[in-house]
Amino acid sequence: MRNFLNSFFTNCAHPKGRMGRAMLKFMNCCHAPLTNWGLNLIDFHDEMTMLDIGCGGGATLKRLMARSQHANVYGIDISEESVTKAKKVNADFLNKNVFIVQGTAEKLPYPDGKFDLVTAVETVYFWPNLPNCLLEVQRVLKPGGRFVIMVEVIDADSKWKNVVEGMTVYSPEELKQLLDDTGLVQTEIHRKKPSYATIIGTKNRKMG
Ligand SMILES: C[S@@+](CC[C@H](N)C(=O)[O-])C[C@H]1O[C@@H](n2cnc3c(N)ncnc32)[C@H](O)[C@@H]1O
Repeated sequence: MRNFLNSFFTNCAHPKGRMGRAMLKFMNCCHAPLTNWGLNLIDFHDEMTMLDIGCGGGATLKRLMARSQHANVYGIDISEESVTKAKKVNADFLNKNVFIVQGTAEKLPYPDGKFDLVTAVETVYFWPNLPNCLLEVQRVLKPGGRFVIMVEVIDADSKWKNVVEGMTVYSPEELKQLLDDTGLVQTEIHRKKPSYATIIGTKNRKMG
């Protein structure tokens, strides 16, 4: 049973196959409260260009579309299974206003200064070399654009670390420090019970 649970939850890091598909369906629902709360902290306007990194089954892309009229929303995920599911979930707008590719946070396939908003929901735990990934996020943000990290595993002693292979747990303070070190400004931590945290940073308007 423990092995079954371990392999099920290891699909959080890189969904694959039948268990990966089940995990993506589960995450599209169970991350809704965290994601909706985190997105409520952001001011949206019409015609935003947004990116969700580690987009999983694509529910966040839909939620972003619902908050900005005439938006263009991009999704990227390292897992082929996630990309397939996200494309299905966003089929109505696919390749019109929603664009989804397989790829990694370490090397984003987008030009400098493209996005008003970049989101990362329950995924930074799995990004190798997080400081480098954050530099990539900063590169693709417009000056004044915002980066929003949403996490619910924030305790370094968390049991999840031993259940999900390859997971690094960061406290909200560590994530804020990493955003500060990247050069993002106006960094903020927001918390909500039971263990939700949203960490927000803004790309300095003076940066080209
Ligand atoms: C726990 S799931 C969260 C999915 C989605 N954001 C959600 O809230 O339901 C983590 C996702 O991050 C993706 N991921 C892991 N490492 C990644 C990386 N280096 N670059 C891009 N995506 C990554 C995984 O494939 C997986 O789909």
